[in-house]
Amino acid sequence: MRLVKVNAPFVEEDEIWAVSRVIESGMLAYGSVAEEFEREFAKYLGVPYLLTVSNGTVALYVALKALGVGEGDEVIVPDFTFFATASTVVLAGATPVFADIDLETYTLDPASVEKLITDKTKAVIVVHLYGHPAKMDEILQIAREHGLHVIEDCAQSHGAEYRGLKTGSIGDVGAFSFYATKNLTMGEGGAVSTKLKDIADFVRLYRNHGQTKRYHHEMIGWNFRITNIQAAIGLQQLRKLDRMNSRRREIAKLYRDELSNVEFLRLPVEKQWAKHVYHQFTVWVEGHGNRDRLSEYLRKHNVQVGIHYPKPLHAQPALRQYFRGSCPNAERASTHVLSLPMHPGLRDEDVLAVAGLVRKFFAEHV
Ligand SMILES: Cc1ncc(COP(=O)(O)O)c(C=O)c1O
Repeated sequence: MRLVKVNAPFVEEDEIWAVSRVIESGMLAYGSVAEEFEREFAKYLGVPYLLTVSNGTVALYVALKALGVGEGDEVIVPDFTFFATASTVVLAGATPVFADIDLETYTLDPASVEKLITDKTKAVIVVHLYGHPAKMDEILQIAREHGLHVIEDCAQSHGAEYRGLKTGSIGDVGAFSFYATKNLTMGEGGAVSTKLKDIADFVRLYRNHGQTKRYHHEMIGWNFRITNIQAAIGLQQLRKLDRMNSRRREIAKLYRDELSNVEFLRLPVEKQWAKHVYHQFTVWVEGHGNRDRLSEYLRKHNVQVGIHYPKPLHAQPALRQYFRGSCPNAERASTHVLSLPMHPGLRDEDVLAVAGLVRKFFAEHV
């Protein structure tokens, strides 16, 4: 069987054309193309402000700084997500507090959040993991009661919807990544979305050395700018984001049709209030050791798979010191989840072949 990749950027002639135009223009750094991307993505999300930054990690960091999170503050984050969701809290000078997830959507469990709130809690970061929105109403309610800020980590959820609203338009700030394998890519890149003018004003200065006009600096900031070259790729990606997400949803349906009868698998759920954009198609594999054996079997048959994530954050050497309480669901998830190939360039026959191998594994090896 030919190699089936777990993930791949979906770039076509349009991106090559758009990048060539920027190169020919000679205006390579941040400029009009980046501004055009910002206007179009803001409109797509339904927010007044969208500011690009270097990557998703920086987007989270800048969001925390904009909300005034710093020393002495605690920020509640899910225990089951990519490292940057929590490392940026430490980088901002605050303390990450790990909350558990629910095992249906793999997103933050509101009950777990509530238990961890102290006088020091300043914000909650929700992650729309794998492209499925988190339980925003419950989280926003808790945040309102306790006066907390809500940051949405949208690195995996471009175009996903919660009750008809795009993720990134619901909390105080949204943080996006445009890394190579994301639903919308620039190779590397990131953005902050918000309805709040103060946040937007801060980020605009902070990402550009606090410069209000040329060589006049009102605050200490960074260079967190993207280039017109990245933005040119991003603009083309944005214009076909809905098409790419539709293809992801078609692939998810195909997997579902092919795998729903496999007794050892729990397939991803799409809640009735959600539009899932399947950044990953992550299945739960029942039975001790079965996940790793299935993973090995698929790799041997030329199918790439991913484990998102093999450790809960509290077990990372760099974050262990911040752990208190317990997150049993995150721990269980880390030993049972497996991401099957998912990207818009996958062909139906690839999906059918992968599903066939999964069925064969359970028929012959379990
Ligand atoms: C949930 C989550 N948060 C944050 C990030 C960080 O984004 P980046 O890799 O663009 O820095 C990623 C992506 O890698 C992610 O998946």
